[in-house]
Amino acid sequence: MAQAQGTAMKTPLLVARGLSKSFGGLQAVADVDLDVYAGEILGVIGPNGAGKSTTFSMIAGALPPTSGTLMLEGQSLLALPTHAFAKCGIMRTFQHNKPFVSMSVQDNVMMGMHTQLWGGLWRVLLNLGGAVRREKAAAQRANELIEFVGLGEWRDADVSSLSFGQGRLLEIARGLAAEPRLMLFDEPAAGLTPAECERLSVIIRQIASRGIAVLLIEHDMRFLMALADRVAVLNFGRKIAQGTPAEVQRDPAVVSAYLGNVKVSEMNNMNADGHA
Ligand SMILES: Nc1ncnc2c1ncn2[C@@H]1O[C@H](COP(=O)(O)OP(=O)(O)O)[C@@H](O)[C@H]1O
Ligand SMILES: [Mg+2]
Repeated sequence: MAQAQGTAMKTPLLVARGLSKSFGGLQAVADVDLDVYAGEILGVIGPNGAGKSTTFSMIAGALPPTSGTLMLEGQSLLALPTHAFAKCGIMRTFQHNKPFVSMSVQDNVMMGMHTQLWGGLWRVLLNLGGAVRREKAAAQRANELIEFVGLGEWRDADVSSLSFGQGRLLEIARGLAAEPRLMLFDEPAAGLTPAECERLSVIIRQIASRGIAVLLIEHDMRFLMALADRVAVLNFGRKIAQGTPAEVQRDPAVVSAYLGNVKVSEMNNMNADGHA
């Protein structure tokens, strides 16, 4: 929180201006401005189809914007190929993330040090045996990350033996292995048990406190509002509000956008679709 209060005086890590994406005739994201600061958690909310994931895809380099600019520390990202975004320190976790290969948790995290891209996976795998033996420091670092996300006991287990929630933690450890400066979480709490959600929020907070910028899409309002320093609200592709969780929750435009006639005081008990 202390970091976010100081944002007015700092330079944003990531600056998006006029970010837009059309799919044929559908304007999925329209003229969105976003500033993301190192060490903050910026929540992104909005009803289903509001353009949240599309915005993330553009920031992660997976989708080229139709128009707009995207700058990381003053450098334009737009001309870069997808894999260069990861090299620049932008890392994204996915909603569905079960690894479909057989390898240990530790090897899987170490893979994150080389690349996050499936395109590069096979090359990495072919080299893995020799590389791992030479990279003691890398193994050490992987073990720290595995401990950090709470998978220490599963370090040597096969990734296929992990539960759904553990798979999500593994993905976070693998993402951190690439030493990102900006991490994008698209509905990370989806499918997790309440205990796993609790652990996830601690982990996300610690990631931000390490100085990493966190962009967080989350359906679970209680989870998001408790975590985010600031919240941006999308509706029909446009940003309709931005502010602290408290400011956003009392913003009339937000309330009418997707909370219908439900009292704002009840918002904390609802998910992003306005259902209890
Ligand atoms: N690859 C795509 N092709 C066509 N339409 C898409 C594509 N991806 C998303 N959309 C559409 O863009 C809109 C925004 O989608 P999305 O960004 O996934 O919303 P959210 O994540 O907020 O639920 C939706 O209407 C969706 O159907
Ligand atoms: Mg989405």
